[in-house]
Amino acid sequence: RPAPVAAAAPYTLARADRVPSDQRVIDVHSHFVPHGWPDLGTGAPWLRVESERDAMIMIGSDEFRRVRSDCWDAAARLADMDADGVAAQVVSPTPVFFAYDRPVGEAEKVARIFNDLALEICRPGGRRLLPFCQVPLQDPDAACRELERCLDAGHAGVEIGNHVGDRDLDDEGIVTFLQHAASLDAPVFVHPWAMPSSPRLDRWMAAWLTGMPAETHLSIIAMILGGVFDRVPESLRICFAHGGGSFAFWLGRLENAWRRRPDVVGTSQQPPSAYVTRFSVDSVVFEPAALRVLVDVLGASQVMVGSD
Ligand code: CO
Repeated sequence: RPAPVAAAAPYTLARADRVPSDQRVIDVHSHFVPHGWPDLGTGAPWLRVESERDAMIMIGSDEFRRVRSDCWDAAARLADMDADGVAAQVVSPTPVFFAYDRPVGEAEKVARIFNDLALEICRPGGRRLLPFCQVPLQDPDAACRELERCLDAGHAGVEIGNHVGDRDLDDEGIVTFLQHAASLDAPVFVHPWAMPSSPRLDRWMAAWLTGMPAETHLSIIAMILGGVFDRVPESLRICFAHGGGSFAFWLGRLENAWRRRPDVVGTSQQPPSAYVTRFSVDSVVFEPAALRVLVDVLGASQVMVGSD
């Protein structure tokens, strides 16, 4: 019988002194922000550089996120990784730059700029820093093109937002993209973004605290009930951020609905629980008990270290 998790020490990302020397820890969830980029046009995020080490991501005149040099300086990042016993890190775009709501030509340009900057930022890290690209997901052809260009240029995979406006991951165009990623053996990291906004959610960071986990939960449901896992090859490697959001905790509710509720019955070839081996999640849940739920429900093989 496992010890009560409440008594466990606070969880920290695999610290150097706890990681066996023969174990290679790969952190699958981290982001980069360049220390500057060309003007992307009205409404696009811009960077208010405050010093060599500090900057603020701005959206119009609003402060979006303060960032530090570990976002663009490989040496700072590698030093942190050494301290935490992390051998390699996947370095993904910051979702605020996805530009899925802009005309496809603009989004393609934004993707190229950030993807090329990602290669520059990661280059000093050699194989320890593994850049993932972004793609203009609103247009499957453009997205597939940019993915191919990036894989040729040295990217190790792709990060996508969990929706494009009202289109979820079961959208025809997005499914085409996922099939193409599978055919290229490119791993896909799904990050929630563009959470719903309302007066009820625009306080206490509620869009991040409830919206983000709900977004990721919905994305996994769209993959299952939308029949995506029935249509993409089993070789597709797809990982969902933040422990897969609320999915693992509510799998029983989903399973019950699939068996009993008319709107859900027959939506996927197999019951939802049959698909838990088709995707992985990261460990970014901040609590040992929550991490235990992920391991119990999805299996340890489906849970990967992430630091975000
Ligand atoms: Co993140």
